[in-house]
Amino acid sequence: MRLIAKFAEMKTQGEKIATMTAYDAPQARAQAAAGVDAILVGDSVGVNILGYASEREVTLADMAHHTAAVRRGAPDTFIYADLPFATYDTPEQAVASGLALQKAGANAVKFEGPHVEIVHALTSAGVPVCGHIGYEPQTGERRVHGKTFEEAERLREEAKQLDAAGVFMLVLELVPAELAGIVTKEIKAATIGIGAGPATDGQVLVFPDVLGYTEKNFRHNKRFAEVGAAMQTASAAYVAEVKSGAFPTLSNCAAMPADVLEQLCKKAG
Ligand code: KIV
Repeated sequence: MRLIAKFAEMKTQGEKIATMTAYDAPQARAQAAAGVDAILVGDSVGVNILGYASEREVTLADMAHHTAAVRRGAPDTFIYADLPFATYDTPEQAVASGLALQKAGANAVKFEGPHVEIVHALTSAGVPVCGHIGYEPQTGERRVHGKTFEEAERLREEAKQLDAAGVFMLVLELVPAELAGIVTKEIKAATIGIGAGPATDGQVLVFPDVLGYTEKNFRHNKRFAEVGAAMQTASAAYVAEVKSGAFPTLSNCAAMPADVLEQLCKKAG
């Protein structure tokens, strides 16, 4: 069975698809052990990990580097990676970028917008595609999309076109729950929501948001842990113990064999 067939099967069976972003090997290892269905190496790596001001600064080299790390951490998990901004402006460029991310370890790529010609080019080159509409972080305005009739109809049409072009999955970001439900019923591809309510075929969240170490919290997110607070507490405790001399103790290092020490001391004396 081709790897992507699993998502169509899950949609048909009504089995929810759980996916999250990961950016490095330990994150990927933890998610694989937890049984995640797919890992997204998102271009959100830029703001969440690399300290960039926006997704637009992320390069193809950044994405390949992080995709390879995630693959090393999760050798058997399905991985889809974002084509970063300005790396899929033409079908030829998209294919070259997609193949580069496949070489780095991705099973599929995701890109933003209703570019059916890019879907055709990538799938013809053997690179499966996940679409992404609604709020498109690389170019769009951060708000709920599809609240007016016209905008909802446009998104519905975009979803149908991408579906017909052959995406195997479609991310719906920040769209009303009802619209996400309608699109989910109308297309073959599995829909993955983020801030799109419970009616999609699956969900994706950004791992640092899930772990609770991003500064902002978002309405669409649920913090499943408070790792940010734990990081701060552990750092403060470490600094305090180094300053006071409480860490390290002799139990944190090796002792010298007595005869060698005796020899050293004799020589010194
Ligand atoms: O880059 C990313 O994290 C994403 C998700 C928000 C879907 O594209």
